[in-house]
Amino acid sequence: MSQDTPAQVSAFVSSIQGRFITFEGIDGAGKTSHLNAMEAQLRAAGLDVVRTREPGGTPLAEKLRESVLHDSMDPLTESLLVFAARRDHLVRVIEPALARGAWVLCDRFTDATFAYQGGGRGFDQGVLQTLEQWVQAGRQPELTFLFDLPPETAAQRLAAARSPDRFESEDRAFFERVRAGYLARQQAMPERFALIDASRTPDEVGEQVHGALLSRGWVRA
Ligand code: TMP
Repeated sequence: MSQDTPAQVSAFVSSIQGRFITFEGIDGAGKTSHLNAMEAQLRAAGLDVVRTREPGGTPLAEKLRESVLHDSMDPLTESLLVFAARRDHLVRVIEPALARGAWVLCDRFTDATFAYQGGGRGFDQGVLQTLEQWVQAGRQPELTFLFDLPPETAAQRLAAARSPDRFESEDRAFFERVRAGYLARQQAMPERFALIDASRTPDEVGEQVHGALLSRGWVRA
């Protein structure tokens, strides 16, 4: 998408229907640059766009994010904190935005909990499912981009980046489990996911992202 011309940008379908789109993948998958590109294109097309992230997106949830990323805690505490942050985010930001017809682009959501706490930490999936039902009351993203790539490739990309948080400093085996957790979610709900091969060049990845929107009829060719 990064190579789209202004003419293609203006071809975005204008719609008053709110859409909830999430971006997922292991740390270092490169999702953020494609999120940036999609946000810019939707805004250029005049749409109401809410760009947000998890954990985070509200003052309270951002405080919880700091704790989750930097304080030592057990996996149940970690899971409760990410779902507490999610509840606040849903009630204050996501639901009101969807109700007024905005496009909500969210950098991570509940699939990350199943992948990181469920897969990476090995925490009980049944408890996570119960928390998901309580917190979300049936709300799910309409489309989830899963940027998939081998953990060793992601680790090489991350090596040059910021100082690592509690998750980024985990070992390769942790990220293999996170990746498997994501792929299990994608296989359980394939219609919600666009599986992106994030090991390709940025332009090729951008084409895959654009193709997923095209195939849903959300943009014109
Ligand atoms: P970010 O650096 O992509 O913003 O993500 C923050 C970190 O939080 C990332 O390493 C994944 C982790 N995370 C969880 O462990 N569980 C969750 O539910 C979410 C949303 C993120």
